Order: sequence, then structure tokens, then C-alpha cells
Amino acid sequence: MIIASTDDFREAARRRLPPFLFEYIDGGSFTETTLKRNVSDLAGIAVRQRVMRDISTLDLSTSLFGQELSAPIVLAPVGIAGMNARRGEVQAARAAERHGVPFTLSTVSLCSVEEVSTATNAPFWFQLYMLKDKGFMDEMLARADAAGCSALVFTVDLPMPGKRYRDERSGLSGPSAFNNQLQRAWQAITHPRWSYDVGLMGRPHKLGNVASALGTDSGLEDFLGWLSKNFDRSVNWDHLRAIREKWKKPLIVKGILDPEDARHCADLGADAIVVSNHGGRQLDGAISSAHTLPGIREAVGNDIKILADGGVRSGLDVVRMMALGADAVMIGRAWVYALGARGEAGVDQLLSIMKHEMATTMGLCGVTSVGAIDRTILAEAN
Ligand code: FNR
Repeated sequence: MIIASTDDFREAARRRLPPFLFEYIDGGSFTETTLKRNVSDLAGIAVRQRVMRDISTLDLSTSLFGQELSAPIVLAPVGIAGMNARRGEVQAARAAERHGVPFTLSTVSLCSVEEVSTATNAPFWFQLYMLKDKGFMDEMLARADAAGCSALVFTVDLPMPGKRYRDERSGLSGPSAFNNQLQRAWQAITHPRWSYDVGLMGRPHKLGNVASALGTDSGLEDFLGWLSKNFDRSVNWDHLRAIREKWKKPLIVKGILDPEDARHCADLGADAIVVSNHGGRQLDGAISSAHTLPGIREAVGNDIKILADGGVRSGLDVVRMMALGADAVMIGRAWVYALGARGEAGVDQLLSIMKHEMATTMGLCGVTSVGAIDRTILAEAN
């Protein structure tokens, strides 16, 4: 199949992946209102066409926390992304490195921080959830630091998981999941057809980062049980203070939708926030990132950097988010579809497509550098 866009990658991933895995990636929470809103609100942002501006040189590069990026694009943390291709997180991190953009490794990854660090040369980012097991959190911070992770993404919008009907229907979550559907699904994906390195004789693969907390023989069942017991609903601003004390490199708080919360993050010494509703997977009915972003920029001014995600499917969407106030943009599903469709080459191709689309949008809006993308490139229809 010829692939020209993120939607094409989505279709290719749908054809190739076991259904439960595709549903896990593609789905959101409850009736997926916020998931759809992320996409439709962004698509509804009108940009301003300008002409006769000599756009022969277009510069997409930017810098973030002293790191040079070839484009203001970051691969968002995505749990169990490593199941979409053999050692999937390493494949995605390599593609990101080749493109000169950061990759973020989820706490809930198949490949450990050490494995990604060994397989790549560029610094990557590490994402951490607030867990009750503070010993594990401290250990993870130390491991991420030692592995050379250049920034920590502290995700705060998951004190408890959102209600995801698709995962319940597919058997990925829910009370009887591990006894029946999930076991069968795991067996299906260990079949040579998928060529995944996810299991041996039907035994689920270990999750790299949490193996130390669980013991070396633990599989995914143990992991998910451990995780659901470990999400810390008591997460509050004191925890951010404590993490700020411990982590000396750039600290990015992910999952901010409210201007007041954004202000708190800045006041407590975060270097950046990610304006995000977790891709519509947590509080369904919540406002879209595109909609809340301008108010958040107003609340924090230039005190901290702002990243944004949710519904970004093209380089045009990246430019829209930047015009609304983001310094850089995270992409979630887009890179995971690409990984599921074509592995490392897919993520590589996706990033090329996104950069090309970004350059096209900038050129046709008459701006030649990332620094010139601001509200003035939005049409009055907004
Ligand atoms: C996520 N996201 C996420 N975020 C995080 O901080 N840690 C994680 O482990 C995960 N896991 C995860 C799994 C899957 C399958 C998806 C789709 C998303 C949220 C992710 O980082 C990002 O915020 C959204 O994906 C952005 O929305 P789009 O780009 O997918 O629309």
C-alpha cells in the first residue's frame, strides 16, 4: 500500500496488527468525544495564506533546553509501543535520532532505558508516572539519569486510568482479561506471522523498566496488576516539588489543560509543561488541547516552555499548534501507527512526511523560520 499520510499509516497498522493492539492505540475513553475533539478542533483552525514573500529558504530547526532539534517535533511517550514491532521503542528511538528530534520512552515500555541508551547515541527523554512505590520511582530517576536521558516528562493526568470501552471489549482490560482473551491475543502475536519478540511459549514479554520491581520472571499480567495497584491517586503538588528536588535536568509536566494548573507548574520550578489530555484517553468530555492552549500561554507568558499534543496528524497540525502558542509539539498515535505499519522505516518516513508538510505550510503562510510562527499566521476566522 502506498503511504502518503498519517491516515495511511493508520490503515496499514490496522491491517497488520492484532486487533486488540490496534484498538488499544486507536481508542480513547468513554465515547471518545475528547479524542475526536482534539482532531476536529485542530483541523478547524484556519491559517492565513500569504504570497510574494520569497520563501526559497525554509528553516524548521529550533532549540529546546539547549538541545538542537531539526524540527519542533517530539515523539510522545506511548505505553507498550514496543509491541508494535520487534524491540519497537528502540526502532522508534533510532528513527527519531536520525531525524534529530527527541524520543520519549514511557515508564510502561518493553525496552528498558538501558536498552534504548545502548542502541542510540542521541539523548532521549524519559516519562514517569506517579506511583505509590516511591523506592521504584527513585530507582527509575537514577536509572534514567545514568542512561543519559536529557529530560524527564512527569505525567500527572493518570492518577487512575480512564474508562476505555475498546480495551474492555478486546479483553486488554477488565476482570477476566488475563484468563481468556488476553492470553489468546498474546498467543496470536507470538505467532511467527507477526514476528514480534513479545513472548516465549505464550508467556508474555517482560516490561523492561519495571522488571526490577517485579522480579525477573514476571510477565505482563504481573505488571498490569502491579501498575493498577501502584497508580497513586494521592498525587499532588508536593510530589512535583519532591521530583523537582531530585531531578536536576529539564523537568516537563505532562497532562496540563487548565491555565491555573499551568501557572502552578511554572511557580514550582518546572521547565516546561505538555498541554495534553492524554490523547483523549483519560477524562472524556475534557477540552481539546488546541482550544485551551492560547489561554495557557497567556497564563504562563514566557516563564516556561509549552509543548502541546492531541490530534496532531500532519505537519500542518504542528504549525497550527505552534501558532496557538506551543514551543514544540508532541505526536502520539501518528508515530505508533507508523511503527506498527512499517517499523523503524515507517517512523522515519512519517517524520519526513511531517517535516515536508510543515515546510509546505510555513512557506504558503509566508513564514520562513519556526520563530516566526505565531498568532499572526492565523486567519481571522478563528
Ligand atoms: C499514550 N499516552 C501516554 N502518555 C504518557 O505520558 N505515558 C504513557 O505511557 C502513554 N501511553 C499511551 C499509549 C497510547 C496507545 C496512546 C495513544 C497514548 C499519551 C501520549 O503521550 C500523548 O499525550 C497522546 O498520544 C497525544 O495525542 P495523539 O497525538 O495520539 O492524538
